[in-house]
Amino acid sequence: MTDTEPSVALGELIDLSGKRALVTGGGKGIGAAIARRLVEAGAAVTIADLDPNASRAAAQIGAEFVTCDITDASQLAAAFDVADGGGGLHIVVNNAGIFPTTGSLTEVTDAFVDRMLDVNVRAQFSATREAARRMATGGSIVNLASIAGLGGGANISAYAASKAAVIALTRAAANELGASGIRVNAIAPGIIDTPGVQEQMEPLRAGGIDVDARIASNPVGQRGLPDHVARCALFLASDLAAFVSGHVLVVDGGATA
Ligand SMILES: NC(=O)c1ccc[n+]([C@@H]2O[C@H](COP(=O)([O-])OP(=O)(O)OC[C@H]3O[C@@H](n4cnc5c(N)ncnc54)[C@H](O)[C@@H]3O)[C@@H](O)[C@H]2O)c1
Repeated sequence: MTDTEPSVALGELIDLSGKRALVTGGGKGIGAAIARRLVEAGAAVTIADLDPNASRAAAQIGAEFVTCDITDASQLAAAFDVADGGGGLHIVVNNAGIFPTTGSLTEVTDAFVDRMLDVNVRAQFSATREAARRMATGGSIVNLASIAGLGGGANISAYAASKAAVIALTRAAANELGASGIRVNAIAPGIIDTPGVQEQMEPLRAGGIDVDARIASNPVGQRGLPDHVARCALFLASDLAAFVSGHVLVVDGGATA
């Protein structure tokens, strides 16, 4: 920092009081952890999730809750209406996503690919458009990509393609929306221990594979936890990242290093 720059206290940089935030898919897993950190930093947070049972968890952390399938245009708009309360939005975390195993590239059906792209790309695109329209005073959009969108992997071709598209959308939107004071960044997590991942790994566990060891198989040697991602989302959402846009932040304990 040069002496011509204002000195801002650290607490102020992460203080989100007065900010309104929407987290899609915040009912559990990574999204729930992000919502919790945003509330802790003072933001008024709305969670939009497919699962109505997630309303209890939202209430426990002090977030609003809207049952919403992000692929449904009217449900998505209704969720944004609740989140902005007529006064605009400052933070949108596009976290809702699906990750069923694609299986063999030669066997995958068009319907499977359509569904993957509809949730992970098209709906996230719609949410980004909705966010940009409502961030009249600027803001921060954080998109959940994946290391799969950077490096691929066997049997996950549809998912990898969807997350590569999220990264491209993030960079394009960062270019386009910067002039409106809107920063757009992505987080690319490695394996994070969430309900969705545990569900995915159940057949492996049943087959005698040490799933916990697999989840902790990275240079840091720790299980990736939802809060590891949430801390980075808080960074990107806050003024700590005031000059960061179009970035893809890899959060994988060094797995892709
Ligand atoms: N967990 C990981 O290892 C990992 C790694 C890389 C990227 N990601 C990405 O992070 C995000 C969250 O992953 P997670 O592991 O926490 O998932 P999860 O399956 O544990 O939770 C996802 C949440 O999103 C909700 N959701 C799903 N489809 C929705 C829809 N159409 N509309 C609204 N809500 C919907 C679910 O109800 C659920 O509450 C996803 O985009 C995923 O691709 C996860």
